[in-house]
Amino acid sequence: MGDQGFLEQKPGFATIAIHAGTNADKWQSNAVVTPIVTSTTFKQSGPAEYEEFDYSRSGNPTRNALEECLAALDGGKHGLAFASGLGAITTIASLLSRGDHILSCDDVYGGTNRLFSHVLLRLGIEVSFVDFTNVEEIKKGFQKNTKMLWIETPTNPLLKVIDLDVVTKLAKSYNQDIIVVIDNTFLTPYLQRPLDFGVDIVMYSITKYMNGHSDVIMGAAVVNDDDLADRLRFLQKSMGIVPSPMDCYLVSRSLKTLALRMEQHKKSSLIIAKWLHEHPKIVEVLHPGLPTHPQYKISQKQMTGHSGTFSFKHSGDLKESKTFLTSLKVFTLAESLGGYESLAELPSLMTHASVPEEQRTKLGITHSLIRLSVGLEDVDDLIKDLDQALNRAFDLKN
Ligand SMILES: Cc1ncc(COP(=O)(O)O)c(C=O)c1O
Repeated sequence: MGDQGFLEQKPGFATIAIHAGTNADKWQSNAVVTPIVTSTTFKQSGPAEYEEFDYSRSGNPTRNALEECLAALDGGKHGLAFASGLGAITTIASLLSRGDHILSCDDVYGGTNRLFSHVLLRLGIEVSFVDFTNVEEIKKGFQKNTKMLWIETPTNPLLKVIDLDVVTKLAKSYNQDIIVVIDNTFLTPYLQRPLDFGVDIVMYSITKYMNGHSDVIMGAAVVNDDDLADRLRFLQKSMGIVPSPMDCYLVSRSLKTLALRMEQHKKSSLIIAKWLHEHPKIVEVLHPGLPTHPQYKISQKQMTGHSGTFSFKHSGDLKESKTFLTSLKVFTLAESLGGYESLAELPSLMTHASVPEEQRTKLGITHSLIRLSVGLEDVDDLIKDLDQALNRAFDLKN
């Protein structure tokens, strides 16, 4: 008789549940699609005798498959995946030590600005922000302790384009050991391959175009240099900012359609940018694919086109921005970018609210600056939506 008069439990149930069907040696299937290996640990044939993997924070088959693909897409030797874009930035910044200096372009993603200004500074790493479209400003910005150059191009949200060739050569001629990093989130390797221009580390918020489906937070770094890769891998393992195998699988799947998605983002965003350019209430369209863009020639030299993310300035103020954004029906009012769905946002109050007001005003991130992430919907529907929302914001005919 078992507990309290019930039938007796069959012996070994828990052991069977744990071990039946899970022989570690049998997983050598010929699966065409990358398997999701959730195992955190891997069988060893003797103490400290293991094949490729021992523990999933250090390496995991599903993550490795993704990292290999990430490296190949950028024409790099090594790819590393992290738990978020900011996780990638934190790890890259951890290559530095107390007393070192980062020279960063002035118009970076708000979260990067926050990490640099509030976290790194507290840890004793100095950061200064400079307009990287101005060579003289960059030259003035170098210090004896400058160890890293941080580039975002096109910048967020003002879409300034930085000359990769010029800026990288400038850094290396000042000091060969300066590590040049680019946040390539806006373009992906489909539209820009920074390693070809001498950049040392290409960094991504995979959360955006690379995954493209707004359902994974992840970051990545791609490098060519073996030593730099070893140092980053050591930090990836030591700091533990790694993504889950499930998410790695989702991103691997998303990358299969990256080229198709980017082609459509590129096409639709340019059609919309041209339409906005003609609109009477639009003062300026900041899109690197328009010949009116101040760095149009540089864009053509280093990019194969521009993605779906760009900004525009209208002739109203906060009231008009709010009416416009809340009137949209196909575009969703939300932060982030790079998904299949179109998004619109107000950087001054949303993505870039963490940038100090004085710096925002100086840069031109005003309440009349709207950022769009043009998705994969029919472009005619997107234009109709923008039209009706602008009509409402400015009391025009509908
Ligand atoms: C250009 C850029 N870099 C980095 C990040 C941070 O990435 P994550 O949100 O994946 O941490 C973002 C997020 O919006 C971004 O837009």
